[in-house]
Amino acid sequence: MCGIIGYTGAKDVSEVLLKGLARLEYRGYDSAGLAVLKDEAIRIVKKQGKLEVLAEEVKQRPIEGNTGIGHTRWATHGEPSDLNAHPHNDHTEDVAIAHNGIIENYKQLKEQLGENGHIFKSETDSEVIAHLIASEYQGDLRLAVAEAAKRLKGSFAIAAIHKKEPDRIIGIRKDSPLILGLGEEENFIASDIPAVLEHTKEVVYLENNEMVDIKKGKYTVYDEFGSQVEKISTKIEWDIKQAEKTGFKHFMLKEIFEQPEVLKQMFQKRIKNDTEVVFDELIISEDVFKKIENVIIVACGTAYHAGLTGRYMIEKYARIPVSVDTSSEFRYRDPLVDKNTLVIVISQSGETADTLAALREAKTKGAKVLAICNVLGASIARESDGVIYTHAGPEIAVASTKAYTAQLGIMYLFTHYLTKVRGKADNCPPDFLKELSQVPKLAKRMLKQYRRNENKMKGYAANFHKYYLARNNKSCFLYLGRNINYPNALEGALKLKEISYISAEGYPAGEMKHGPIALIDENPWVVCLAVKGDTYEKMLSNIQEIRARGGIIVAIVSERDSTLKGKEANYVIEIPETEEIFSPILVAIPLQLLAYHVAAEFGYDIDKPRNLAKSVTVE
Ligand code: M6R
Repeated sequence: MCGIIGYTGAKDVSEVLLKGLARLEYRGYDSAGLAVLKDEAIRIVKKQGKLEVLAEEVKQRPIEGNTGIGHTRWATHGEPSDLNAHPHNDHTEDVAIAHNGIIENYKQLKEQLGENGHIFKSETDSEVIAHLIASEYQGDLRLAVAEAAKRLKGSFAIAAIHKKEPDRIIGIRKDSPLILGLGEEENFIASDIPAVLEHTKEVVYLENNEMVDIKKGKYTVYDEFGSQVEKISTKIEWDIKQAEKTGFKHFMLKEIFEQPEVLKQMFQKRIKNDTEVVFDELIISEDVFKKIENVIIVACGTAYHAGLTGRYMIEKYARIPVSVDTSSEFRYRDPLVDKNTLVIVISQSGETADTLAALREAKTKGAKVLAICNVLGASIARESDGVIYTHAGPEIAVASTKAYTAQLGIMYLFTHYLTKVRGKADNCPPDFLKELSQVPKLAKRMLKQYRRNENKMKGYAANFHKYYLARNNKSCFLYLGRNINYPNALEGALKLKEISYISAEGYPAGEMKHGPIALIDENPWVVCLAVKGDTYEKMLSNIQEIRARGGIIVAIVSERDSTLKGKEANYVIEIPETEEIFSPILVAIPLQLLAYHVAAEFGYDIDKPRNLAKSVTVE
């Protein structure tokens, strides 16, 4: 969480930093700020609230300069306020820093520095970094940052400037991401690639504990022992357009609509002759997959739901026991993992702190770790034994959509791959890959139909809004699913609550009578995932039970199934007909759209929901 950026070159630094921060705002938006270095002075401007507040301030009172750092904050220590916003400086105003991460020993450091006359202004953990660097400074900012870093406990990506060192920025990282952008007579550091993409496609991924010293026409990377490291730069293939809304009202909507293409590209690239799956980048040998005795999937949030769905596939076809855990629980429960365990970590950002820690825990215990990751070169991808990229392109909206269905796509492919490698290819239906390849077309058709009847979904959302207000905000949502669509019930509920702030829970429908059915009266809207499949009839019975108790039913059904239409269901959403095993991707899309429209109806900031950040780099 939090995004940092640094720039040194010939351009107007405020403009570069503000534009870069706009592309990092998904990492936090409680406050934003800039520190600009000019004529042996550092000028800081920072404002509580979204970036636009800062941009307006800079417009009113422009800051000139060509070197500076910027920050967009997701508050951890200290409420969102102007004072707690970054960048922070030390009391002599010699040093300014922007920080992403958490300094765990900040209280002790603050105390020690306080005894030596340092005066603190904010409630943040981060401010201590500026003071520490200033106290270590003896004429060379790089050495001061290196010394300061030795005393910091926790996670950090830091950008630091010193008023006596024009045209110089020092960046350092430990357990928080930092990349270096290389330009012509200009250089950048940033938390993520989109921040620099408008200026350069040439980037260097910094490893943990590495430090970079940038100047206008030069950069040097150092390891934790202070030795210079030769780095190879990477050319970013994607275009800045992919990180823009391109006519859509919100990134979330744009990303929902990108799903058919993401999946089409994925299947075209990875499926050969409808019979074989190829993972070019996977460096774990087939031998490892032959020998594993169990699989543990570890992830957070939406990625966790993709993992739950993956369990159904792997167990059904590859016949290997699979358990699925949230990263934050896995890492602390001393899990039973050994060299015969394959741990699959799933993460869009590849930087989620809990998932990274779980990965390390699994490796320590001797397991092989396979990452399913979206962001190229992210920490989780680099630290795992092997990686399969989802290649969904940048996902900007905080609510994950295309990354989720891409994770599902990879789970299908990996299941097939695993059955083949383990000599169980016959377990999969012969046309498994062929059928799977049809899913993007079906998704595209569904989205086209949705576009034509957009008002229908909008209408459902508007009705809910009215209903909610009429019941003094007592209405809520329940999502029920069974079998392979049960994880989608969790995902539908997560999507709705994170962007519309309405209470929503997902349950396996069969669990209703073990407690949750007590919630049913005329208040909740119950989204029932009732597509054709093995448990369809059971789902119909559950719907009757809810209906009998007054619940409002929103049913997601297979096309041409008229069983519920105009009868037990108050609202019906159709998805294209397909084998049940391939339905999760198609079911997920209307759930995303429903959440989107409800949030829009309530007038919330869909791409930047309150209290959240896209990439959760703190535990
Ligand atoms: O980057 P990751 O996939 O590791 O992120 C995991 C969760 O933080 C993420 O899926 C979160 O739940 C989303 N906001 C859900 O839409």
